[in-house]
Amino acid sequence: MPTITYHQPSGERTTLEVAEGATVMRTAVTNGVPGIVGECGGQAMCATCHVYVRGDVALPERSEDEDEMLDCTSSERTDASRLGCQIAVGGGLDSLEVDVPASQV
Ligand code: FES
Repeated sequence: MPTITYHQPSGERTTLEVAEGATVMRTAVTNGVPGIVGECGGQAMCATCHVYVRGDVALPERSEDEDEMLDCTSSERTDASRLGCQIAVGGGLDSLEVDVPASQV
């Protein structure tokens, strides 16, 4: 079963087993992982699901909408920045580790 691991700024870590296709945002919100808001419900319109992806993992390219929203994040954008609602495990990607930013709004 795929896993998603969330690293908090405090150093706390949460690893969750999830179904194929589970997104980083929806998994966090439904499991009470702090620091990920998901205000727009996954429409790439709010940037409150910003995360930093750890490691060199093969993720789909950022869409134009995602790229634009990443310019609006509360915490600094880096090369590892993604919208948690736009990335998912599954399809050969069995584990994903992300750092939760210090702020989302
Ligand atoms: S939940 Fe709003 S951009 Fe991801």
